Amino acid sequence: MASLTVRQLDDKLKQQLRLRAARHGRSVEDEVRSILRAAADEEPAAPVPAAPAAAETATAPQAKRVLLIIGGGIAAYKSLDLIRRLKERGLAVRCILTKAAQEFITPLSAGAIVGARVFTDLFDPAHEFDVGHIRLAREADLVVVAPATADLMAKFAGGHADDLATAVLLATGANVLLAPAMNPLMWANKATQRNLAQLAADGVALVGPNEGEMAEAGERGPGRMAEPLEIVAAAAALLARAQPLKGKRMLVTSGPTHEPIDPVRYIANRSSGKQGHAIAAAAAAAGADVTLVSGPVGLPDPPGVTTVHVESARDMLAAAERALPVDVAVFAAAVADWRAASAGAQKLKKVPGQAVPALALTENPDILASIAQRKTQRPRLVIGFAAETENVTANAKAKRTRKGCDWILANDVSPQTGIMGGDRNTIELVTARGSEAWPPQSKDDVAATLIDRIADALKDHP
Ligand code: C5P
Repeated sequence: MASLTVRQLDDKLKQQLRLRAARHGRSVEDEVRSILRAAADEEPAAPVPAAPAAAETATAPQAKRVLLIIGGGIAAYKSLDLIRRLKERGLAVRCILTKAAQEFITPLSAGAIVGARVFTDLFDPAHEFDVGHIRLAREADLVVVAPATADLMAKFAGGHADDLATAVLLATGANVLLAPAMNPLMWANKATQRNLAQLAADGVALVGPNEGEMAEAGERGPGRMAEPLEIVAAAAALLARAQPLKGKRMLVTSGPTHEPIDPVRYIANRSSGKQGHAIAAAAAAAGADVTLVSGPVGLPDPPGVTTVHVESARDMLAAAERALPVDVAVFAAAVADWRAASAGAQKLKKVPGQAVPALALTENPDILASIAQRKTQRPRLVIGFAAETENVTANAKAKRTRKGCDWILANDVSPQTGIMGGDRNTIELVTARGSEAWPPQSKDDVAATLIDRIADALKDHP
């Protein structure tokens, strides 16, 4: 019989084994023994590396992906039916069972209905070491927790991440839908209600619980998990709401421009690009096909967005025109109004005794105005920004008319506001109908509010 020692294994595998052994309170040798024993017994929960790929490719590539987290409650048995109902809707389902859930249903039964392996461990040797939970979190359009126990809700509200389910909940950017299920006394408890209020404030959606008989004899009240079909309907509504700009094309400009004086010097401004990039990211998350034309910024390209990097205003205009036709264009870039009339081909020399060179400026193209006033391929909705330091509303209204755009998002960028380069923004939306003040909010929230408004406008005038 061939002999194999732990020392012969590669470093990554050794590290995984060490972690796994530590978790189970065993020596590495005992851990290996238990893995081999389980494999020899063909224990159903033992992961089979080939299975996920085969099963996962079986679903249509464009199917919406639901990650179902099954918590540990008697209602877990209904979640097996929920898997079936979600799949009937053409959704691609992945499933996580918490440790407590496995007291009620097995990974084998859930896996048989999902048609793929289910996930149970934060550190899973069959998956790419500890990035497994990040990938699960990212590769979901919606996370459904059913049943959501009082304990899972408390951990989620508190930002815990000590097992696979809670780590995924903390890492996901997708909408989360909770289907709570617990005893009515636990549901009514102040701690649960406090956690619920926190989760609602964090934007987490809820379906149920319903009123009715409890598993405990003679107990009635709110706490029964919503029926699978109710959960599927809530999930479908969230998935539809999440993509209001599906099929729409959008152009966003962002960041400053750099206008060369000579090959090493340039004129610039303090724009960070945070607002424009947040808008591009939110539009992509809402399903739009987004082209972001970005001046030089220190930000990563937003995921799912086609980013075109430019330096000068003239390059930005050319890139914006190339992105047409689009349904919506948002001009968030802080474009330099002027550039050097004749940028030196060589570095300007400081010559002792000679006069300081005069910097003659010439006007840059106005990208917003030229796209807003196009005779052909004018986007349906053209949106500009107005960074003002005084008379914000009046200046923004005048700017809207002068540039020929549909909406202006005006903000006060006087130094004391900290908006330029900061993470928060206070916007006044100016349209043909008048103006409205938005409360101070993060630049991400401004982006989300704007995307909602754009989706509404396109819905009203399809
Ligand atoms: O004229 P002002 O710079 O205040 O206008 C601001 C708005 O116009 C912003 O939406 C900005 O992106 C856009 N703009 C532009 N091209 C310029 C100047 C401003 O697209 N050259």
